[in-house]
Amino acid sequence: MSKNRVSRRQFLSYSLMGVGGFMISGTLMPMLRFAVDPVLQKSGIGDYTPTQYKVDDLTDVPVRVDYMIKDRKDGWYESDVSYTAWVYKDGDEIIALSPVCKHLGCTVNWGSEGHPNEFFCPCHAGRYTKNGANVKGTPPIGPLDEYEVLVKDGFLYLGGTKPNTLV
Ligand code: FES
Repeated sequence: MSKNRVSRRQFLSYSLMGVGGFMISGTLMPMLRFAVDPVLQKSGIGDYTPTQYKVDDLTDVPVRVDYMIKDRKDGWYESDVSYTAWVYKDGDEIIALSPVCKHLGCTVNWGSEGHPNEFFCPCHAGRYTKNGANVKGTPPIGPLDEYEVLVKDGFLYLGGTKPNTLV
């Protein structure tokens, strides 16, 4: 028989420490997971979504490109989300601009009636030049965002948005 006998006091201490540690880790682990979750998510920049557009079909005139991200997760909710970009070529460079107005978030259009060769927001008459710069004296307070662009097998892929680098 071993001489290292565990006293009743030691046994209770070890038991309480074990149960206490289990309860504390059960509380802290979800909090820790919640805190580091953004770091574990893939960044929008690395994720590109294919579009139907062939790069060869693009010109220097912006075209509306609609595309869908399937099974987008928002918490426990999964859904298909549609997005839009205004895309054109500037020499060899492909420019993809967000259609979200920098005033109050309406959708801007290219070349609408009475506004040729510019982006126009119908909500409060916001105007943007072709590179997305907001026209001074109109409501928008900043330029349109850009999308990350990737070309694969001749097709246009769009990634996350970034601040406009053209203005
Ligand atoms: S939301 Fe576009 S100008 Fe106001």
